[in-house]
Amino acid sequence: MHRIDARNRPLRAAAAAAALLLAAGFTAAADEAKPADAEAAAKLAAEVCSGCHGPAGISKSPLFPRLAGQQEAYLAAQLHAFKGKTRSDPEAHNYMWGMATLVSDEMVDAFAHYYASQQPAPGTAGDPKQVEQGGKLFEQGIPERGIVACANCHGSNAEGRGIFPRLAGQQSAYVVRQLQVIQKQLRSSPIMHGIIKDLTPEEMTAVAAYVQSK
Ligand code: HEC
Ligand code: HEC
Repeated sequence: MHRIDARNRPLRAAAAAAALLLAAGFTAAADEAKPADAEAAAKLAAEVCSGCHGPAGISKSPLFPRLAGQQEAYLAAQLHAFKGKTRSDPEAHNYMWGMATLVSDEMVDAFAHYYASQQPAPGTAGDPKQVEQGGKLFEQGIPERGIVACANCHGSNAEGRGIFPRLAGQQSAYVVRQLQVIQKQLRSSPIMHGIIKDLTPEEMTAVAAYVQSK
């Protein structure tokens, strides 16, 4: 599996982010007015989060998820999952745990709102055979193996809804990695565990190529 270099970069990034966040009054009082939170979220998204998640949430690296146009409720749930450490795969631990402890509950909502409001990335064409195979799995599931259609929850265009994440246009390497960590139960996703527990590596790659192309 292609892994993020977890040796120095996250620590350096986290330290730099911590300094920036503190300088920007990130630990502001809980009763701070909403518009101020929104402004702070936009500023920090541009100055800190963009280092990995890309400008306005469209990451260029296949290892970092795209956040632009992601579902607001889902984004907030994930930031809480990093804070609560229920999302505990190595990359969550190395990159997002420290980052998330610096985000107050009020700021969770402000970040979720900020990224949900950004224009999502357009799809990227993939290997036509994989896209076709993945599309079939996404739309129909594999009834004989008890695998439900992904579209049931993630939407017919993979646009997501509420706590069901948008997958359209997402980095395919990131999608594969999440399917692997959810399968290994390193990421607590009770709804997803049962559904993807028997998905093969080939099926993961195919469905990832499909959603990235949407
Ligand atoms: C040093 C790199 C880095 C920085 C800076 C960073 N992130 Fe992340 N982020 C990651 C990685 C890596 C993941 C994927 C974690 C995993 O695989 O579980 C991630 C995942 C996420 C997710 C979950 C996305 C999904 O589709 O489930 C959210 C939300 C998020 N980050 C928000 C933020 C916010 C808000 C900031 C700024 C305060 C931020 N990140 C800064 C690296 C970073
Ligand atoms: C019954 C509803 C349901 C079905 C069916 C379903 N999912 Fe999910 N999926 C979810 C939920 C809920 C989450 C968010 C889990 C969490 O909060 O950690 C999720 C998360 C994911 C993620 C992580 C996204 C991210 O940004 O990190 C991927 C990838 C994913 N699903 C792929 C699939 C695929 C592929 C299928 C079909 C084989 C599928 N899902 C079927 C409900 C579903």
